[in-house]
Amino acid sequence: MKIMVIQGPNLNMLGVREQQIYGPMKLEQIHAQMKDVANQNSTEIEFFQSNFEGEIVDKIQECYGEIDGIVINPAAYTHTSIAIRDAIAAVGIPTIEVHISNIHRREEFRRQNMIAPVCASSIIGFGPFGYHLAMIGMLQIFNEMRAIKEQQAAQMQSAQN
Ligand code: DQA
Repeated sequence: MKIMVIQGPNLNMLGVREQQIYGPMKLEQIHAQMKDVANQNSTEIEFFQSNFEGEIVDKIQECYGEIDGIVINPAAYTHTSIAIRDAIAAVGIPTIEVHISNIHRREEFRRQNMIAPVCASSIIGFGPFGYHLAMIGMLQIFNEMRAIKEQQAAQMQSAQN
């Protein structure tokens, strides 16, 4: 199984950017922890960060047929991007949205979320630990997908007999 982690605009500035909101951890450190969890669970993982909406749409499209689960923090595009929402809906890959800060406790404009309705789950306000929770959640989704496939295979088998 393979996970793609997609990070939106300004997340490359973690550790520098508004530390009182996002904390001191850098994106590379978050990714190193996610990679450890992936390795421990025999799961492949790739990382992508972009400050450009179209590049994020391209990356989601590239996941089609290649990737089993997406973890995404669309950052500011969460609140505006119908294009990213449509791309997630188009590929139909289980997607978990992460927000480091609690977007519901901040400015009014951050309460609008274009992305959540097309995601399997949203993890909001746990700081960088939210990415770890997303890994656990995605591994659980993979387990459930595997169980459903096995059940379907068993049903096919018994229908043939
Ligand atoms: C964010 C929240 C967004 O509102 C903001 O624009 C970000 C980061 C978060 O992780 O808390 O860039 O997605």
